[in-house]
Amino acid sequence: MSAPDLTLYPGGVRIDPEGMSIGGCGLAEVADRFGTPALVVDEGALRERARTYRRAFADLHPDSGVLFATKAFPSASVLAVLAEEGLGLDVASGNELAVAIAAGVDPGRAVLHGNAKTDEEIAFAMSQGIGHIVIDNLDDVGRIRRLAGGVQPVLLRVAVGVEADTHEAMATGGAASKFGVGIDVAGEVIELIRKEPTMRLDGLHAHIGSQIFSLAQFRQEVARLAELGSFPVYDLGGGLAARYTSEDGEAEIGEYAKALVGAAHEFLGEEVRLLVEPGRSMVAPTAVSLYTVVTVKRGRLVHVGVDGGMGDNLEVSLYGQRFQPWVLDRDRPAERCDLVGHHCESGDVLATNVDLATPEVGDRVVIPVTGAYTYTMSNNYNAAFRPPVIFCRDGEAREVVRRETMDDLLARELTIARPGASGSRSAAGGRR
Ligand code: LLP
Repeated sequence: MSAPDLTLYPGGVRIDPEGMSIGGCGLAEVADRFGTPALVVDEGALRERARTYRRAFADLHPDSGVLFATKAFPSASVLAVLAEEGLGLDVASGNELAVAIAAGVDPGRAVLHGNAKTDEEIAFAMSQGIGHIVIDNLDDVGRIRRLAGGVQPVLLRVAVGVEADTHEAMATGGAASKFGVGIDVAGEVIELIRKEPTMRLDGLHAHIGSQIFSLAQFRQEVARLAELGSFPVYDLGGGLAARYTSEDGEAEIGEYAKALVGAAHEFLGEEVRLLVEPGRSMVAPTAVSLYTVVTVKRGRLVHVGVDGGMGDNLEVSLYGQRFQPWVLDRDRPAERCDLVGHHCESGDVLATNVDLATPEVGDRVVIPVTGAYTYTMSNNYNAAFRPPVIFCRDGEAREVVRRETMDDLLARELTIARPGASGSRSAAGGRR
């Protein structure tokens, strides 16, 4: 069995005679202590990644800001760490903004997105002093006009007509996108917003999609924005790919910053404020998922069934994302396997056609590069508990989000007896 590809793991990964560790914490011990499945974040790597992003842009263009796309990992602890490292935030709903505020983030350093923002969301964001509202449609204009108490800084989202080379569910910049106003009508919308006394149009926003390797497509995006005239602020969105397997190409923050800032200087000028909104590329490589093997079925294929799956990682089922699992600390001959989840659906897989070290029941399996969108999209299919999030740093493992319990799952069921109600047993039946 070959060694795991450590370039896919967070910076704080080590392999020594005791086994694999992250942030100084042995993963086997973390699994024993907190159970599986679990999402384990290398806090040092997360901080380092935030600094790398900030430096990469600030070095090339001092008037720049990095806004973490909250949706990629909307845990208050993650947001707090990233804010501490100097990042702002992109929020895509009133609730994401509320989580950010609970985490202590300054709403003035956030932008609000959404293709269907409600009155409540817009009013809430303005009441909290949101930095910018990104106008997606004419109804946004009407709502801000109606609800604004003063002058709200806004950006206009433009569908720039760049078809990003990625999964179709993740492409957002094409001419038929549900997001933003088409570039052909953007000029008229700009004129309209400029006439609104309750809005100050600072600039334009575009986001062409997610998991994009082609830097040329980002350059195209910037060039398209330049067709709409000059503005003081440009928010160029997120979208840089993460490297999930050894076969994936490189997607370096430095190269991305060079491409984006280079294009901005060429097409938009040097005197603009530049914002970027990385989500996936900020957090994906900073975390790993831990599972325990529950069953190994050696038939036509080898099905290795673990105690998680599409409940805690939908990337595979929804987008066909490839991952590269490793049997933690085991050095046995390689066996070609399908790593599958425990949910009642054939689409519930974590990795197909992968070499694993002749797995046995009770083995732990680690999957790297699971920091982006797994926590976000985790769910309760088959009444699964959503997993905990464990921060590891300097040898200390800290549970920042606990595993769900049966009480959590039953908490919204109004017709059953609740714990504490007179004469009732715990709704969870004692199961935690
Ligand atoms: N800005 C905007 C306006 C966005 O819509 C997104 C992501 C980002 C920034 C961050 O993009 P990133 O840097 O993460 O590529 N549910 C999918 C991901 C959808 C991404 C949606 N928008 C998944 O689970 O992979």
